[in-house]
Amino acid sequence: MSDIFALKGDIAFSTDIQTIETRENHYLVCKDGKVEGVFDRLPEEFKDIPVTEYKNSIIIPGLSDLHVHAPQYSYRGLNMDLELLEWLNTNTFPEESKFKDLEYAKRSYEIFVEDMRKSATTRAVVFATIHTEATRLLMDLFETSGVKAMVGKVNMDRNSPEYLIETTEDSANDTLNWILETANKYQNVKPIITPRFIPTCTDELMAKLGEIQRKTKVPMQSHLSENLDEIAWVKELCPDAEFYGDAYDKHGLFGGECKTVMAHCVYSTPEEVERMKERGVYVAHCPQSNMNVASGISPVRRLLESGLKVGLGSDVAGGSSLSLFRAMTDAIQCSKLYYRIMDQSAKQLTIEEAFYMGTMGGGEFFGKVGTFLKGYAFDVVVLNEEDLPHPQEFNLKQRLERMVYLSDDRHITAKYVEGNKLF
Ligand code: GUN
Ligand code: FE
Repeated sequence: MSDIFALKGDIAFSTDIQTIETRENHYLVCKDGKVEGVFDRLPEEFKDIPVTEYKNSIIIPGLSDLHVHAPQYSYRGLNMDLELLEWLNTNTFPEESKFKDLEYAKRSYEIFVEDMRKSATTRAVVFATIHTEATRLLMDLFETSGVKAMVGKVNMDRNSPEYLIETTEDSANDTLNWILETANKYQNVKPIITPRFIPTCTDELMAKLGEIQRKTKVPMQSHLSENLDEIAWVKELCPDAEFYGDAYDKHGLFGGECKTVMAHCVYSTPEEVERMKERGVYVAHCPQSNMNVASGISPVRRLLESGLKVGLGSDVAGGSSLSLFRAMTDAIQCSKLYYRIMDQSAKQLTIEEAFYMGTMGGGEFFGKVGTFLKGYAFDVVVLNEEDLPHPQEFNLKQRLERMVYLSDDRHITAKYVEGNKLF
């Protein structure tokens, strides 16, 4: 017996980066966790299926967060007056070291996963910490929540404080064992290889992680060309690398056969962009974090024009908000600053482009995810507009744009992931 049902209401979704389709008072049909189609009336074969109607609401695809640090969630919004490397040493490393203690990890991760469950995010690519036990716990929590996640045990074997460092051997062995244990354990969760960034990982460790990836075919995430001091440091550490990304590529950890997502790419050179394009490396654009830790303004228009795959990341706690709607508006606003201050030939991002990056663009990292075309995963968020009244008429596209700017978790009245209703 297949599981078939429909949602009825005002539906909006991207079909490509320039286009948001809007369908008022339509039916969105789910069959076995996948979108069957969007219909103005129910086709004969579906006439008896259960229908849930959402009034005064907009039905949209779930959002994908391509870069978020789970252990950093509880101190988001604190100590934002530092630049990246100082911020890591002052805030991040001391906090992440607490996840050695499973009790603490449980308290912190429960808060994070519950908030993500209530948000518009249906899929996330997540950093944990170096601690494998706490990372497993985070994976268990995601599994129960129903939100789909790729979760990474972080690797760090150099340039890290003695309270948050591993030996090269332990880091590689723990990673391999953890991948073997978790790769097929969950419905909603998968492991992802997660060297923190080049400064905290020796060549020897990177080589071992490359071997692990070739053996297990697990995807990979890291940071790339985020901050000027970081980039200068990578040059010193890896004098043979042609550019920052080449330091990953030298170890076979830069896309190709296995999906790879790199956060930030604020200062990627043309050579780096070209290599990323060749290898199909995704960019997680994290505009709020780029502002908070003063990394810079990403030339995201240029990245898109180069043909790169770009999604959005909250990068909590570099980003202070978990909201991907906030990431969309930050992306638009940052692109306006880039246009005004840096390059008036780089057009500002449109709402279509920002909405696409938060849905289809990032969703592609998970497969057929992020739109309501037939065969895509039935990941759905329902936004209720009742407490944001207006006297004038708006069309559905305008209503959507307004909700991207104005809505928060209180407006999310229903959420489905692959047909599974979370609330
Ligand atoms: N680079 C290395 N680690 C981090 C981190 O935790 N956050 C951000 N934004 N950049 C990093
Ligand atoms: Fe990050």
